[in-house]
Amino acid sequence: MATPTTPQAPLGTQLSIAILGGGIAGLSTALALARQGFQDITIYEAAKGLGEVGAGINITINLARIMERLGCLDYARDRAVALEQYKVLESENDEQLTHVNLDYLQKDFGYPFLVVHRRDLQGAILKGCQSLPDQIKFQLHTALLEVDYTPTPEGKTRFKVKRNVAPPTDPENVKGAADKKAQEEDLDREEVWLEADLVIAADGIRSVARRDMLKKLGEEDHS
Ligand SMILES: Cc1cc2nc3c(=O)[nH]c(=O)nc-3n(C[C@H](O)[C@H](O)[C@H](O)COP(=O)(O)OP(=O)(O)OC[C@H]3O[C@@H](n4cnc5c(N)ncnc54)[C@H](O)[C@@H]3O)c2cc1C
Ligand SMILES: *[C@@H]1O[C@H](CO)[C@@H](O)[C@H](O)[C@H]1NC(C)=O
Repeated sequence: MATPTTPQAPLGTQLSIAILGGGIAGLSTALALARQGFQDITIYEAAKGLGEVGAGINITINLARIMERLGCLDYARDRAVALEQYKVLESENDEQLTHVNLDYLQKDFGYPFLVVHRRDLQGAILKGCQSLPDQIKFQLHTALLEVDYTPTPEGKTRFKVKRNVAPPTDPENVKGAADKKAQEEDLDREEVWLEADLVIAADGIRSVARRDMLKKLGEEDHS
């Protein structure tokens, strides 16, 4: 795996970056920023651990190229099925309507058409993030409650989270943690305001960050 490149942005080493949500978008953004040389990235995730939900996902050739660039394609490829062809059938009688041979993808573009379990796609990106622990930190079981989009005098953005007094930081080993009981009983939970130079909303379809942005703009959230 290639090492991160030198920061291209002048603020690369100083900018604190908060990523709200550790799904596919949040993890990919963290990994891409770290590989650009950003040093201070924290992922805030409501769940206690990452990556067990979903079904099959296509890794098309354009995604495969990006994943290779981020250094996380091999993990997914080892767990994927490469499609050789696909057929579209008439549901009434199984008559074949079209047939596409996918050999040309590898030949012309250098990547196969892969199908993986969503867990393994997220796992591949997560592994990439975990390989850069100095740059990317995890704050799990930490739920975003509110974003205040009015910048502080220092130009930072504040956001409020509910978290454990000591939030778990290992996405794969949270269940065995000694604070399991406290987590289950919701003891030792605190609400705190945090801040970062850059806040990236990746908290999914029911985004709290989007809700608050639209509220500030006086618009309705239709999701
Ligand atoms: C259960 C499930 C199964 C899916 N299966 C498939 C599939 O098989 N194939 C396919 O192509 N697509 C599937 N999708 C759709 C695909 O996963 C989504 O399009 C994609 O995950 C969107 O990425 P995202 O990072 O924006 O959001 P998400 O992956 O939803 O990530 C959002 C993250 O933010 C966290 N979060 C949410 N609110 C807060 C908060 N307030 N504070 C902190 N963290 C928060 C969530 O826990 C989550 O980890 C599935 C989606 C879901 C939910
Ligand atoms: C994956 O690709 C196949 C073939 O193009 C398509 O039929 C299927 O709907 C795709 N699946 C997803 C989850 O996008």
